[in-house]
Amino acid sequence: MNTTKTINLKTRPKGKPKLTDFEISTTDIPYLQQGEVLLSSKYVSVDPYLRGRMSDAPSYVEPFKLNKPISSAIIAEVLETKNANFNKGDFVSGMLQWKEIQTAKGDGLSKVDKEQAPLSAYLGILGMTGLTAYLGLTEIGKPKKGETLLVSGAAGAVGSIVGQIGKILGLRVVGIAGTDEKIEMLKSEFGFDVGINYNATENMSAAIATACPEGVDIYFDNVGGEISDAVLFNINKFSRTINCGAISVYNNTEPPKSISVQPFLVKKSSSMQGFLVFDYVDKHPEGIRKLSEWLEQDKLKYTETIMEVFENIPQAFLDLFEGKNKGKMVVKL
Ligand SMILES: NC(=O)c1ccc[n+]([C@@H]2O[C@H](COP(=O)([O-])OP(=O)(O)OC[C@H]3O[C@@H](n4cnc5c(N)ncnc54)[C@H](OP(=O)(O)O)[C@@H]3O)[C@@H](O)[C@H]2O)c1
Repeated sequence: MNTTKTINLKTRPKGKPKLTDFEISTTDIPYLQQGEVLLSSKYVSVDPYLRGRMSDAPSYVEPFKLNKPISSAIIAEVLETKNANFNKGDFVSGMLQWKEIQTAKGDGLSKVDKEQAPLSAYLGILGMTGLTAYLGLTEIGKPKKGETLLVSGAAGAVGSIVGQIGKILGLRVVGIAGTDEKIEMLKSEFGFDVGINYNATENMSAAIATACPEGVDIYFDNVGGEISDAVLFNINKFSRTINCGAISVYNNTEPPKSISVQPFLVKKSSSMQGFLVFDYVDKHPEGIRKLSEWLEQDKLKYTETIMEVFENIPQAFLDLFEGKNKGKMVVKL
């Protein structure tokens, strides 16, 4: 095979991304150079942060270029190799392009062991997702046994792991998610103490007060916007907010109308800190060790929403904004 299917960014989304913002094309597979490997994509991660890269506003990662392939974390199999560090049949994880087949340099690829965990887990609990949950909560949340942890986006990839780590560390854990079914899952499968379905709640601030009678000590924020505004009315003295993501405003075309956080923070000597998992690269090995250990001990569980076939990668990405996933959203090729 000399050609491969590729997914390019065709137009920069305005508001909610649409399928027509993407284009599937057929491109040539370049001749394998010394130091390179030929890869066949097996599992593709779709992530909310990719929305930021689809716009041309400056951010912490470069915008995707128009009419060029999109990239994300991918697990791939080595089909051919001209790099001594990789053998044919190895499985690797790396930031790769949305292509069925591609060549890549060896740097930036890490081998994954399919005997140790299912391949897709390296995109979720044993990848960026798990590290975000673990490092965000421990480094910024600084949890102390007995405290109350509130998690938004709780039934998603990061949120469902944050809550479980909270339980392991002896916290009372409250999750916010978008359906009753997700709330049930948080309690019955992941051990959350209480859940709030924000789509069925008119007064979020009052619902949080009921769910957190002793107030919120740590808020792990995956969604931003109005849900996070409501949390401010319930924060405790010396509470910590981990600003991990703000999916509720990623598609805004106007600046969001949020309330002023400063008076709340001053009154409660409370802190809010932005968090990027890549700022803690030196702690990634420790994080993976800890997550693997808890996984082996059955203290951590994970769930995935797996879509199939290459052509559905854009749809899987769009579905994140509709809350169609439980746990990590991946596409299996
Ligand atoms: N800072 C970092 O280093 C880092 C790393 C990874 C991820 N993140 C961020 O962490 C957050 C979660 O990422 P993830 O990969 O775990 O995604 P995810 O939570 O698995 O998927 C997105 C979820 O967001 C919820 N959502 C969608 N639109 C919403 C809205 N308008 N209001 C409230 N909730 C909404 C949906 O669940 P519901 O059904 O509950 O609405 C959906 O399932 C994202 O904001 C992401 O950007 C940050």
